[in-house]
Amino acid sequence: MMVYPLFNGLSAMKSISIKFKEPRQKGYQVLIQAGQISRIQASLKHLHPGASAFVISSPRVYGLWGKALKGFPKHLVPDGEQHKNFAEFHKALKALAAFGRGADRKPLVVALGGGVIGDLAGFVAASYKRGVPFVQVPTTLLSMVDSSVGGKLGIDFDTPQGRIKNLVGAFYQPSAVLIDPAVLKTLPQRELAAGLAEVVKTAVLFDRPLFGRLEASVPALLKGDARLLEPVIAACVAHKAKTVMKDEFDLRGARALLNLGHTFGHAVEAASKFKLLHGEAVAFGLCCAVDLSARLGLADPELMRVEDLLLRLGLPTSLKALPMKAVMAALSQDKKFEKGMRFVVPKRLGLSVLLPLPPKHKALVEAIFKARFR
Ligand code: NAD
Ligand code: GLY
Repeated sequence: MMVYPLFNGLSAMKSISIKFKEPRQKGYQVLIQAGQISRIQASLKHLHPGASAFVISSPRVYGLWGKALKGFPKHLVPDGEQHKNFAEFHKALKALAAFGRGADRKPLVVALGGGVIGDLAGFVAASYKRGVPFVQVPTTLLSMVDSSVGGKLGIDFDTPQGRIKNLVGAFYQPSAVLIDPAVLKTLPQRELAAGLAEVVKTAVLFDRPLFGRLEASVPALLKGDARLLEPVIAACVAHKAKTVMKDEFDLRGARALLNLGHTFGHAVEAASKFKLLHGEAVAFGLCCAVDLSARLGLADPELMRVEDLLLRLGLPTSLKALPMKAVMAALSQDKKFEKGMRFVVPKRLGLSVLLPLPPKHKALVEAIFKARFR
């Protein structure tokens, strides 16, 4: 990680590079600096001289932070996971095509928003003219620490069995990720806590000292203190960057580790009809993953600290009972289920493994859910 000195009165800029072995695949930088949104137009010009920027955002985020991108054409997607769908993808693509018509250059898509906007706008950029450049400007904690980095994009999709999360999408890397932790000051508390669930996930997976720092700073974390969050975001991005560089296309098992808590989490997220936020579902899923590890006799007792920390962060570690049939249906529809069930199982803080479970363990998984339903 590079740290550049104070610039223009803003905090020092941290830069994390993502590079790929494949020579045709361009790397990019994740730039983290409080206040940088105020000079985003200059950053875009510097990154893509002469490109015509097209902003994709949501009404709420654009209303709060869009003035930094004033003058650029925009398309707004309604807020919420329920809009990360094909109809909104189609509308955004049509708006981009109308803008791009006659333009002699490829437009530059700027995704300003949380993970929903980043996933959808990135997929639009990946699809239009078989790929135009795009820059991620994440505005939620969750999108800063996870979704904006690594080029996993997509939308939820309706099937005869119901809506499946992220069923349609692409791997397509952004040309830069610009993270301004100062924008978190307008993020609602519930969304901030949901983002902290992905932070806890990262610490459990890779970073025992970070886990300790989180335990020691719960009140400040919950206040969204940007000075505290900046190094936390940088640490999470650095872990994600390392993982993505090892396994860009999720083929080698390294990237699959990032799904810690997600297999359980996606199932309750879908069964709750997306009333649970993604991060909340992940918090619940992290507890289930620890339970699975304990029931398999793999868990170090220190993993008890995971549930304690999540509770102190105000995240759900148990849920009002959801219909078991819907939960198990959502679980087995999960696209990650091939040849039985594959779970990420934590063994201790900083060490998790990917474990294929034979179908006979389905009853065990069901019991884990039930034990956490009130
Ligand atoms: P989100 O995008 O729905 O944003 C949450 C809410 O916060 C929205 O209502 C939004 O308008 C509002 N908001 C955003 N920034 C704000 C700000 N600065 N101030 C005030 N309000 C603000 O939710 P999310 O948690 O960012 O993202 C969840 C999505 O990310 C899910 O669809 C999930 O599947 C996806 N995801 C993708 C990856 C990936 O690798 N691509 C990883 C994790 C999660
Ligand atoms: N959030 C999971 C991944 O990027 O692979």
